[in-house]
Amino acid sequence: PVVAVLNGPNLNLLGERDPQAYGTATLADIEKLCLETGDRLGLDIDFRQTNHEGVLVDAIHELRRTAAGVVINAAALSHTSVSVRDALAVVEGPVVEVHLSNIHRREAFRHHSFVAEVADGVVTGCGARGYAMAVEHVAHLVAAAVE
Ligand code: DQA
Repeated sequence: PVVAVLNGPNLNLLGERDPQAYGTATLADIEKLCLETGDRLGLDIDFRQTNHEGVLVDAIHELRRTAAGVVINAAALSHTSVSVRDALAVVEGPVVEVHLSNIHRREAFRHHSFVAEVADGVVTGCGARGYAMAVEHVAHLVAAAVE
């Protein structure tokens, strides 16, 4: 089974961008962590990043039936995008949202996430480790569904 790990705008700049909020891990480090977690759980990881809302919507459509589950950090689009939310609503497998920072401890405009409304779970504020936790939770939900 394949778990898609999707990343939205500006996450390509991790490592240099606001390390106070997001830590020092680069997106390549996070990809490696996801691949290691996938290896341990017998899952292939399809790891992607885009700065473009429509590209993210297209990726979700492409993966909606083939991915066993989706982990998504839609970044700023979490707080703005009804189209990303609506695309995620048609994903067949489980969806787990992840944020590096604790969005509830930050500016008010980050407190609401459209993605959370269609997610099976949310991991926020656990840094890069949150991605591993999210992949593990998707694996758990996928295994529970086939039992
Ligand atoms: C983020 C939180 C968002 O509010 C922000 O726009 C991001 C990153 C996080 O991982 O903490 O780009 O999704």
